[in-house]
Amino acid sequence: MRTSRLLPIILAATALLALPGCSRVKDDWKAAQGADTSEAYQDFLQQHPDSEFAVQAQSRLKQLAEDRDWQQAAATDTFFVETIARGRRGTGMVGFAESSPIHPTLTRADIESIVSFIRTWGAQP
Ligand code: HEM
Repeated sequence: MRTSRLLPIILAATALLALPGCSRVKDDWKAAQGADTSEAYQDFLQQHPDSEFAVQAQSRLKQLAEDRDWQQAAATDTFFVETIARGRRGTGMVGFAESSPIHPTLTRADIESIVSFIRTWGAQP
């Protein structure tokens, strides 16, 4: 009898105690989203590894890393040459250095010429 009367009070008190923590997670998540940097999401995950936003934080971290890799790689001709030669796995883009019934087989020299040609587009106004 005594326990059953105390129970709602204990539950309410626990909920009240949990509230500030909960809003802190939300505030920290909003701050991380506002900054939208790898460092911000890493900090967030370190402080709230089990929060409801952890999966979103992880996936944004992964996306930012991929964007960075892509930007770095895209600055080099080698990356373009390799992409055209080998294709992009998981997409409709086949490797043009591989023989195929639907396209001519390009040599490395052909591909390098194509990349040099494409590079000239950037120089035009
Ligand atoms: C002469 C050069 C190139 C040719 C002829 C070419 C051709 C193609 C073709 C036919 C597709 C398939 C499109 C479709 O699914 O309908 C494709 C997709 C794609 N290509 Fe290329 N490509 C070239 C250069 C490049 C380069 C330099 C990159 C990256 C550095 C690249 C990245 C991609 C990507 C990511 C896709 C997939 C797009 C998607 O599925 O949303 N391609 N390309």
